[in-house]
Amino acid sequence: MQYMKPGERIILALDVPGYNEAVDIVERCSEGIEIFKVGSELFTAAGPEIVRKIHSIGKKVFLDLKFHDIPNTVAGAALSAARLGVFMFNVHALGGFEMMRQAAQALSRHSLRKNTARPKLIGVTILTSMDQATMQNELGIGLSMSAEVKHLATLARRAGLDGVVASAQDAHMLRSRFGKGFLIITPGIRPSWSPPDDQKRTLTPKEALRRGADYIVIGRAVTACHNPLDALKRIKDEIAGA
Ligand code: C5P
Repeated sequence: MQYMKPGERIILALDVPGYNEAVDIVERCSEGIEIFKVGSELFTAAGPEIVRKIHSIGKKVFLDLKFHDIPNTVAGAALSAARLGVFMFNVHALGGFEMMRQAAQALSRHSLRKNTARPKLIGVTILTSMDQATMQNELGIGLSMSAEVKHLATLARRAGLDGVVASAQDAHMLRSRFGKGFLIITPGIRPSWSPPDDQKRTLTPKEALRRGADYIVIGRAVTACHNPLDALKRIKDEIAGA
C-alpha cells in the first residue's frame, strides 16, 4: 500500500441521528479527515443524500451498512453502493462465501462496464463489541476468537473481498497471514485519554497501526469531544511515529 499521511488513515464515524448533525461534524472536521463513515443510524435517517453531500465537498465515504442477506439481495445492495460512488462498504463475512462472492463479482462487472474504480469491499469478521464469552455463549461459535476471525478473513479473501474489518488485537495475526494488499480496517480504537464505551477489544490508534491496520475507525473518541479538530490533532500527533 502506498504511503499515507496519518490523517488519511483515520476514518471518522458519523454515528449521529440525522443529516444536520452529520454535516456539522463533517464541516468541523473536513480539514483533518478524508474518509467519513456513514453507518446504519445515519443512513436510515438521512439516506443517500448525506453520502452525496460528503462527496460534494470532495471527501470519501465508507458506507458501513454491514450487509447480511441472501446472495442475490446483497449483490443488488453492492451495486447500489457502487452507483452511489462510495469509496468503501462492507458485508458480514458471517453471511457466507457465496454471498460475498456474488457481491464481489457484481462490483467487478459494474466497474468494468462503467469504467470506474471498484469500491473497496470489506468483510466484517466479529464485531469489536463482542468478546470470546459472548461469541461462544450467544452465537454458539466454538472456535477461539482469533481462530474464528482468521477463518472468516480467509473466506472473505477467497471470495474476492478487498479486506476485512477486525479488532486491532487481531491485526497483526491477519497481516502476517495475508501480507500486504489485503486491507485491515480496525474499529474499537481508543486513545489513552478516552473511555471504552461499549467496546470490549480496544487498542490505541498508534498500537493499531503498529500491528498492521491500514485504516482505523474512530467515532466517539473524536465526535464526543468539545473540540473534535483538537482531538484529531492529538491523535495524529500520537500516530505520526507509528
Ligand atoms: O465510537 P466508536 O469509535 O466506538 O465507533 C466505532 C464505529 O465502528 C461504530 O460506527 C461501529 O458501528 C463501527 N464498527 C465497530 N466494530 C466493527 C465494525 C464497525 O465498532 N466490527
